[in-house]
Amino acid sequence: MITEHLYLLEFLIFITVFSGSEAAHAVKRFTGLYTGPYFDPTTTTNITTQLGTHAYLPCKVKQLGNKSVSWIRKRDAHILTVDRYTFIADDRFQAFLVESTDTWTLQVKYVQARDAGQYECQVSTEPKMSHFITLNVVVPKIEILGESDMFVKMGSTVQLKCVITQSLEEPAYIFWYHDGDRVLKYDKNAIDIRLDREGTDTTVSTLIIFHTSSEDSGNYTCSPSNLDSASVLLHVLNGEHPAAMQRGKNSASPIPGWSHLSIGLGLAACTPPRFAITVALTLAIISEVLAC
Ligand SMILES: *[C@@H]1O[C@H](CO)[C@@H](O)[C@H](O)[C@H]1NC(C)=O
Ligand SMILES: *[C@@H]1O[C@H](CO)[C@@H](O)[C@H](O)[C@H]1NC(C)=O
Ligand SMILES: *[C@@H]1O[C@H](CO)[C@@H](O)[C@H](O)[C@H]1NC(C)=O
Repeated sequence: MITEHLYLLEFLIFITVFSGSEAAHAVKRFTGLYTGPYFDPTTTTNITTQLGTHAYLPCKVKQLGNKSVSWIRKRDAHILTVDRYTFIADDRFQAFLVESTDTWTLQVKYVQARDAGQYECQVSTEPKMSHFITLNVVVPKIEILGESDMFVKMGSTVQLKCVITQSLEEPAYIFWYHDGDRVLKYDKNAIDIRLDREGTDTTVSTLIIFHTSSEDSGNYTCSPSNLDSASVLLHVLNGEHPAAMQRGKNSASPIPGWSHLSIGLGLAACTPPRFAITVALTLAIISEVLAC
């Protein structure tokens, strides 16, 4: 009773001292009139986190007193934690209190896709009080734009664009590899690597090779610090390329990476209509790549 009166007194003084612009603040103080625990209405209800990172679900309870705070996973009604104790055989889950902010936070380490869903923060009042938080898990995607086999004319400039989307956490670095060897910027004076962050969730690394030569053919892999990698096969064709194509399976080629194409065309040559389509498609791809 005394406490209630004190709160009311404090509230009245508050109203007297502050006016107008402070109204919003006063409303917040007004909630202090409750005698038991209550959830801070500013507590978030929606948390989005990236696969593999740690998620922090906050539950802000004022005037908790000696009540307990439990975290419950809605999917299977599993009690994860009660106060500081973890009640699930999965040590990725842990709850801790930050007293200065009256916040019991559920930490979920190394978030997996199946962790997505609703979580309940429950206070052991009678009846129980619950606050729900939805955990969203985003899975970053990585790709090198274009076909998985790229054909370019010798001497031309080629750009390989590695695009990472839905990544809330920017990779610390993105490395490029050519047949397993790290590609360095200004290697051979003919290579440039650019890194751009586009928007809040997209990172693009561009590998540019000027004056391509046959040694530039091969497997290019884009490998970010925090994700799987992506690869393309680059085929640098010499000037005789169209003629070489007509020769079909007999065109043993000295250029590494070229054999792959020759085999494909060799098989296609057995069925003339398909051969024509294959040639047309290949030419279309080449012209598209050259157009870049
Ligand atoms: C929660 O956040 C995610 C990602 O920011 C968003 O897509 C979703 O619509 C939000 N849900 C609610 C209920 O606000
Ligand atoms: C919690 O505190 C209240 C009064 O402050 C007391 O009556 C009650 O016994 C306490 N409960 C526990 C579990 O300690
Ligand atoms: C390219 O290299 C990467 C990394 O070594 C490998 O995972 C991938 O299978 C290779 N791709 C091709 C088409 O050889």
